[in-house]
Amino acid sequence: MKSLYTICYISKAAPELKEQDIEELFSYTSKANNKNGVSGILLHSLDNFFQVLEGNEKHLLQLFERIKVDPRHGEMYEVYNKRTTHPVFENYRSTFDIVKNSEDLKTLIAYLNVDKSNSTNNKLKRLLQPFDMLGEF
Ligand SMILES: Cc1cc2nc3c(=O)[nH]c(=O)nc-3n(C[C@H](O)[C@H](O)[C@H](O)COP(=O)(O)O)c2cc1C
Repeated sequence: MKSLYTICYISKAAPELKEQDIEELFSYTSKANNKNGVSGILLHSLDNFFQVLEGNEKHLLQLFERIKVDPRHGEMYEVYNKRTTHPVFENYRSTFDIVKNSEDLKTLIAYLNVDKSNSTNNKLKRLLQPFDMLGEF
């Protein structure tokens, strides 16, 4: 059986990044992840990126090595980098999701609220709170 893996981090967007660069990154990421069976979310707000990646361990670890050295962001803070038996996003909206506006974020938080007994859901919800309260999209 292939191991399922979760990676979650927050990073600072590079200051020179323009709206168009972010759109291109969003479009590349959702296409690549859907093609490669990677689920999760990517959000850009308050000059930060917040990303959750779930999928095959080997693929995710290789992908994360590329993401870590990508000059479009820095100052990465890793929240999760571990095997999982209960992926959170496997069944979320059926594709890798880009959180593009406050409505998307509210839908995501409502989804995380469905299973309050899951500690990963609760942690992600707490981390998303500042974006929900202060976020600009
Ligand atoms: C914040 C951020 C998140 C990213 N997330 C993904 C991702 O989920 N999947 C992906 O394939 N590339 C993602 N990338 C792009 C990768 O860093 C990299 O550019 C891409 O995988 C192509 O790598 P290559 O040029 O070595 O082939 C992300 C980049 C940034 C800055």
